[in-house]
Amino acid sequence: MENINLVSGMRSTGKLHLGHYMGVITNWVKLQDEYNCFYFVADWHALTTKYDKTENLRQDKLDVVLDWLACGINPNKSTIYFQSKVLQIAELHVLLSMVTPNNWVERDPTLKDMVKILKSKNEDTSENVPQMSYGLLGYPVLMSADIMVMNGGIVPVGVDQLAHLEITRDIARRFNNIYKTELFNEPKPKLTQIPLLLGVDGQKMGKSFHNDVKISDDEETTSKKIMQCITDRSRARKDDLGHPDKCEVAFKYYQAFADSETVKQVECECKAGQRGCADCKRQLGKIINDKFAPIRTKRQELAQDVDKVYDIINEGNKKAALEAEKTMKLVRDAVNI
Ligand code: TRP
Ligand code: SF4
Repeated sequence: MENINLVSGMRSTGKLHLGHYMGVITNWVKLQDEYNCFYFVADWHALTTKYDKTENLRQDKLDVVLDWLACGINPNKSTIYFQSKVLQIAELHVLLSMVTPNNWVERDPTLKDMVKILKSKNEDTSENVPQMSYGLLGYPVLMSADIMVMNGGIVPVGVDQLAHLEITRDIARRFNNIYKTELFNEPKPKLTQIPLLLGVDGQKMGKSFHNDVKISDDEETTSKKIMQCITDRSRARKDDLGHPDKCEVAFKYYQAFADSETVKQVECECKAGQRGCADCKRQLGKIINDKFAPIRTKRQELAQDVDKVYDIINEGNKKAALEAEKTMKLVRDAVNI
């Protein structure tokens, strides 16, 4: 166990899906034994693009934490909290925004992509969300405050977040230079190795694309969704020779969720034309349901005792605020404010 703080957050998008599970959560669970982990729900970040639709925000935040806890994020090992309950993050965000040149955030490619997506959504729905609000422009600065306030040394993220993190390192360096201090270290990204899981339709998995399987889906819903998985498109009949490497979704899910022996068997039978895609996906649905059964049971238990879950979050909020206040004392001194 290294005495380094690890910080990572997820926007409060509601119930998490299998892509989150494979791409992020299993990784977070492992890291708990290696670092002091700070895991938070980025509810302010959620507002940068959805400030006008907050009616589900409370439930969404709770759902994220329920999924984390059910999957094995352990409050005795990690600090679990809501970003908006640690006011020191907002304070640091203001101070960092003073030293951050405009063009650093304006050229952030990930931010540009977010704006593109927002624009295309506006065209679809004729909703009147500004393409770039002041808050959204500050997205990477707020993220820097999240990390720096906890004295984060390691930040597990996906590749799409690397551009933000580069800005964090630049801001940390610039703050140190301006205020002649060595207060901040430059946090290092820790890339998630597992390739991102696609949605059942072969597109990027996401709630808004209606192609995701949720961790908390019941067995019937899961089985139904798995039956929609794209397979080898060149295959019409069961005895056509199949190509697992061209089976765009179903076989990828096997590789993600089944044991290696099963994967080998599926591969052989598919290639030999001894396995129909419908049967293959029925078996896949069962494998996924079996794997998530204990997690789903645990989640249901937690959901029945929401007070206990909020106790855990409140406890985490307090711990996080203590850590953040330690940093902010030094920051206020450095800035002479
Ligand atoms: N921007 C991250 C995402 O969309 C979420 C996030 C916010 C984050 N603050 C962070 C991740 C700080 C790591 C560290 O996935
Ligand atoms: Fe994919 Fe299974 Fe069909 Fe082969 S049999 S193409 S692995 S779904």
